[in-house]
Amino acid sequence: MTKVPYEPEELVKLALKAKESAYVPYSGFHVGAALVGDDDNIYTGCNIENSSYGATICAERTAVVKAVSNGARKIKAIAVASDHEISTIPCGICLQVLSEFCQRDTLVYLSNHKGEYKACTFEEVFPYSFKLNNDI
Ligand code: THU
Repeated sequence: MTKVPYEPEELVKLALKAKESAYVPYSGFHVGAALVGDDDNIYTGCNIENSSYGATICAERTAVVKAVSNGARKIKAIAVASDHEISTIPCGICLQVLSEFCQRDTLVYLSNHKGEYKACTFEEVFPYSFKLNNDI
């Protein structure tokens, strides 16, 4: 956990670094995430696979679990990176988990393996999420 004011490029670099720790004996596909919490700490995560495939945890959720279990309750920004040459987009389960802690304007940096990223708001990536009190 590093306490620093972030630059998007810095967050993307940390996501790329985090993917180096990915435990991916089944897919070989490394994913890393780095988020800034409302405590201004940066939390990183990688995907951790399991021989019972459904027990795999994605990089984004690893980072969220680290942040929230440390007391953070909001995500100010998040970067995601993988081995792919195109930008990595969080899967549906991760988007739903992120929706609990992101705001509509939370910045999401979707990076490729070279650190070239596309910046979006959380709302652009995931306009609707499940809520107990949905009213659309
Ligand atoms: N994965 C992530 O870490 N994040 C996502 O948003 C989508 C997929 C991981 C899970 C699995 O270890 C590998 O990528 C291939 O699906």
